[in-house]
Amino acid sequence: MPVLIAPSILAADFAAFGEECRAVEGAGADWIHVDVMDGHFVPNLTFGPATVKAIRPHVRGLLDVHLMIAPVDPFVTAFAEAGADILTAHVEAGPHIHRTLQTIRDAGMRPGVALNPGTPVEAVAPVIDLVDLVCVMTVNPGFGGQRFLDVSPKIAALRAMIGDRPIHIEVDGGIDASTAPGAARAGADVLVAGSAVFRGGSARMPEVYAANITAI
Ligand code: DX5
Ligand code: ZN
Repeated sequence: MPVLIAPSILAADFAAFGEECRAVEGAGADWIHVDVMDGHFVPNLTFGPATVKAIRPHVRGLLDVHLMIAPVDPFVTAFAEAGADILTAHVEAGPHIHRTLQTIRDAGMRPGVALNPGTPVEAVAPVIDLVDLVCVMTVNPGFGGQRFLDVSPKIAALRAMIGDRPIHIEVDGGIDASTAPGAARAGADVLVAGSAVFRGGSARMPEVYAANITAI
């Protein structure tokens, strides 16, 4: 599988999401990663379905929506209507992960499951056939710009568990030119990066984004 880059708009200019999405796509981004936080599952607040709906017309590729919220189920329909393509729920977010992933699939989106750095990979084994993506957190979620936690053995174990199923392994948190190669070697094929993509640039300086993406 080719390695895909999914810039996280958590590190973009919040007053200019449309322009920022167009700029990073023009600079070579494959997907746009949207970090939804509720101030409860994680200690930070960001945005919800209304923001996804607002950026949808500015994004040509896939909208990869990472929910750091609990509960998930009451919001699935709203994210589907907003235009999310991939909707990822944390395995730690509730007691009924099968129902959540099935609800996401039934709403017409591709389900993903995310696991925190402290959660063993075995936690996703029971639902591996229900997902199109597993997001392996390489920081404790809640904030951009945190230090990368090396969970390479977990990524390798997940790659073995997945076998030849067409399931993406995404890594999220602290990904840059120094950490991306190890994550990809371990088996990740989607790299989420916030700070490392948006650092030093702006929608008016997309050449900086292109250089940052190339460096990863
Ligand atoms: C962390 C988010 C990540 C984060 C990545 O809670 O899920 O997507 O924004 O940002 P960087 O690349 O800055 O660690
Ligand atoms: Zn994320």
